Amino acid sequence: MPVSRRGFLRLIGDEPPLSGAFLSARGLEAHLAEGQTQGQRTRPLLPPGVDEIRISSNENPLGPGRVALDAILGKFPEAGRYPFNSTPSENDLASAIAAKYGVKPENVVIGAGSQEILKNAMRAFVTPARGFVTALPTFENCTGFAKKYTLPLTEVKVDSAFRLDVEPMIDAAVKGAGLVFFNNPNNPTATVHGAKTVTDMVERIRRASPDTVILIDEAYHDYVTDPSYQTAVPLALSTPNVIVARTFSKAYGMAGMRIGYGIGMADSVKKLAILKMPYNVSVFGLAAAIASLNDPQHIEDERRRNTEVRAFTVKALQEMGAKPADSQGNFIFVDVGRPAKDFRDACAKSGVMVGRDFPPFEKTHCRISIGTMEEMQKATAVFRTVLRVTTTSTGNGKGR
Ligand SMILES: Cc1ncc(COP(=O)(O)O)c(C=O)c1O
Repeated sequence: MPVSRRGFLRLIGDEPPLSGAFLSARGLEAHLAEGQTQGQRTRPLLPPGVDEIRISSNENPLGPGRVALDAILGKFPEAGRYPFNSTPSENDLASAIAAKYGVKPENVVIGAGSQEILKNAMRAFVTPARGFVTALPTFENCTGFAKKYTLPLTEVKVDSAFRLDVEPMIDAAVKGAGLVFFNNPNNPTATVHGAKTVTDMVERIRRASPDTVILIDEAYHDYVTDPSYQTAVPLALSTPNVIVARTFSKAYGMAGMRIGYGIGMADSVKKLAILKMPYNVSVFGLAAAIASLNDPQHIEDERRRNTEVRAFTVKALQEMGAKPADSQGNFIFVDVGRPAKDFRDACAKSGVMVGRDFPPFEKTHCRISIGTMEEMQKATAVFRTVLRVTTTSTGNGKGR
């Protein structure tokens, strides 16, 4: 029996705005799923009766915008259909993304989250003879793949300002790497490189090693406020072997919907498209992503909100004597002067769940995601109490 949108809302007993319980359940599920698939999370337990502030997974605390939620709800009657028998189709989403950049759908490959793009780039471009170059610490999806399949791996430690250390990354790449992963802004450090640095790096790698593919992951693009930064999408669209990965999981607030994409020249993108799982994105995700692309105001509002809460949190941390790195994302990498585990466990006792360990900085630094202003006001009060016991900070540990 078809379920109307109104009928569905009655079924779930909710009317807009969605309840806090619904939203926090969404965050918890996303985290649990992530823990299960990555199989390495040790997560402090929430004490009974304590409200949870989940600022550990770089999620958008407000979730999707209203138009995206309406699009998701509107698709429930078609939940029984394969995406190719439903509208909008995957091609419609590729076309909508392509139209945003003035290119063709063959320049775009859709993924079940940008992690599918990252994994398929490893499958397509890294071999025992042509290794993988990445940063340390950075988003570890590709690093994990290289370790799992014992592929040649070079991890270049971030510089003293916690930015990707470009020169040694170029040096490693030009030795014939299959793939370079360049996360800009970088998770977990939240630092960014400007457009000129990225363009120069691409030129130099391509001149010395034209078959090396450069994957620029811009998951946090919408949160950058540094004026020297620009997206590398135009560069990818005009340069062979350069691909940009993007996601709807961050500013678009759709981590649970699992939609990302790769964009670049058709020949580069084709190599990822042939590895794609068929019907990898649900009818809900497709509808929500297209609706969101037609709602740029939501992203503007989210950027402004994140910038304001991020500034508040950075200032509060500095006042406590902690040392945050420059943040250009929806998270902060901060020297808390003690092991991340101690800080994390102490915060968890008050229901504040911060990020996991990020070696080689797990003895000093913690990653804190940006929640709502109300959440961060509560969280910073907890940080203040936890950090009151002063310890000597050991800096960024370069050379350790
Ligand atoms: C830098 C970076 N890239 C990619 C992803 C994966 O995002 P998703 O698979 O949800 O699109 C994340 C998630 O946290 C990330 O931080």
